[in-house]
Amino acid sequence: MCGIVGYIGKAQAAPILLDGLSKLEYRGYDSAGIAVYDGEHIVGKKAMGRLKVLSEMTHDGETMPGTVGIGHTRWATHGAPTDENAHPHFNESETIAVVHNGIIENYLKLKKKLIDKGYSFQSETDTEVVAHLLDYYYKGNPLEAITKVMHRVDGSYALGIIFADQPGYVYAVRKDSPLIVGKGKDGNLIASDVPAVLKYTRDVCFIENEEIARLSEDAIEFFNVDGEPIEKTYKTIEWDVNAAEKGGYEHFMLKEMYEQPKTVRDTLSPRLKDNDIVIEELGMTDEEIREISRIRIVACGSAYHTGVTAKYVYEGMARIPVEVDLASEFRYRNPILDEKELVIIISQSGETADSLAALREAKERGNTTMGIVNVVGSSIAREADKVFYTWAGPEIAVATTKAYSAQLIAHYLLAIKFARVRGTITEQEMADYITDLKRLPDQIELLLGNKERIQRFANRYVTAKDVFFIGRGIDYAISLEGSLKLKEISYIHSEAYAAGELKHGTISLIEEGTLVSAVVTQEDLYKKTVSNIVEVRTRGAFVMAVTNEGNTEIEKAADYVVYIPKTNKYFTNSLAIIPLQLFSYYVSVGKGCDVDKPRNLAKSVTVE
Ligand code: F6R
Repeated sequence: MCGIVGYIGKAQAAPILLDGLSKLEYRGYDSAGIAVYDGEHIVGKKAMGRLKVLSEMTHDGETMPGTVGIGHTRWATHGAPTDENAHPHFNESETIAVVHNGIIENYLKLKKKLIDKGYSFQSETDTEVVAHLLDYYYKGNPLEAITKVMHRVDGSYALGIIFADQPGYVYAVRKDSPLIVGKGKDGNLIASDVPAVLKYTRDVCFIENEEIARLSEDAIEFFNVDGEPIEKTYKTIEWDVNAAEKGGYEHFMLKEMYEQPKTVRDTLSPRLKDNDIVIEELGMTDEEIREISRIRIVACGSAYHTGVTAKYVYEGMARIPVEVDLASEFRYRNPILDEKELVIIISQSGETADSLAALREAKERGNTTMGIVNVVGSSIAREADKVFYTWAGPEIAVATTKAYSAQLIAHYLLAIKFARVRGTITEQEMADYITDLKRLPDQIELLLGNKERIQRFANRYVTAKDVFFIGRGIDYAISLEGSLKLKEISYIHSEAYAAGELKHGTISLIEEGTLVSAVVTQEDLYKKTVSNIVEVRTRGAFVMAVTNEGNTEIEKAADYVVYIPKTNKYFTNSLAIIPLQLFSYYVSVGKGCDVDKPRNLAKSVTVE
């Protein structure tokens, strides 16, 4: 999704803006632009495509002198990805420049009114309305104009604004789209995400909904929507700036896959105390846990897939019924929620628009909500009643790997905790589960060590047209994620099917040489899935099976087998997903795709 950076200070702004935007590239974008005040005017430069086009155009910012500016990477929503539609947008006299993340929902109505008043528009964007509306209200007091605009626009926005006749200030405004300010030594910054400012400061402040920040070279002030001053506190970012860099790996995705043992350890350890599971941060009493009538998991994409796995885990271990919903569906179908239902929203970014809306819907209905979130201080983390942080660190590759793995751990811990409190497992069973959980990081490491074998296999499939992923129970949930990983980064069509469902239509697509990946880790379903393997193989499929160590019999049915170490049946997803991630990664590399930034995708989907 779009990224925002702004700077005011002693240094030249343009190189800092370009550098900050480069740290936001992972969010996905299709054009970029910056605007800098040169001492007399605001000068803007925009370019379609990658940031390097803009860098070349401005000689890395050198041709845009000035110490105040704003910058943007745009992921097109309203209007095609063109130079005209790229941000910043200006008023007609180019004395006000605006960058914007989010969507102005009533922009057509406002645009019509502004055209009636004689304003003309250069772009198809909703953002340009903000620039002209600011112009309309601006009578020399920026704060007054900004608050008037805030009262007129509906929708979501994070805005960075500069005024040519107020060159000592950068303004930042937010509603339902993340925005932070960073307090630097030689200047201050705004950004839509922390990595953009980490090179200059670790002291950041999260702007809340309907708040305004006014930055000068040496001060940052905050105001509410009525323009009244407010006090805010700063947070020190603890994670290392290197965590947001590639650290010698060819791609962020590979680096992040290799971080999974650590991610799993970091998410587990703080919650394991003397063979007990203690999740203090949730502040949930045993009474509250016993009272849960149902768990409703709501999420998007891979986060949703961890929810599908979690259904089997919570229901199996804790005997609590679970419903899993896609956030984009949940919010519009007037869902029937029982008042004792716990609503769990899963989100790496904590900013996914549909997941955030689902959270608000559940809260409005009076349900207790819990966020399983990776980004500290994100909207979902702040708004959920309870937060379970996955300690995966910043995830840069668009395709999630380590955050997915950490989300699984969060579910396992919650399920064991709930099961023990509700008396559906014994103390001994809990101890056994914990022993298996503690083994997972080493087992993941072992599987990652097998990467060359998977790479050789993947190289044979770079020209594949269709791939099918099948499995039953938890193996079906693993297949959903395996399939999404492959298609999103390699652009090869793939589908995941519950293994028993394939013969109800889709099996007609299997032809000589079609690759079918079968996940077979659930021992009680082993024979059933092997029968499904035989069904597709007799129709010409080439079968790759992922199964538990010891199931060597499968070699008679499958063409290529990957073994995963033994673990509890509920935790096999954490292991079986590793070869599938590696497979997708190497197919994508083999095809020469942009692994970390697949086309059309964004890291943080802040529009619905
Ligand atoms: C796929 C992927 C996406 C996200 C989805 C939800 O690799 O990363 O499917 O899982 O967009 O994002 P978050 O977890 O940030 O809410």
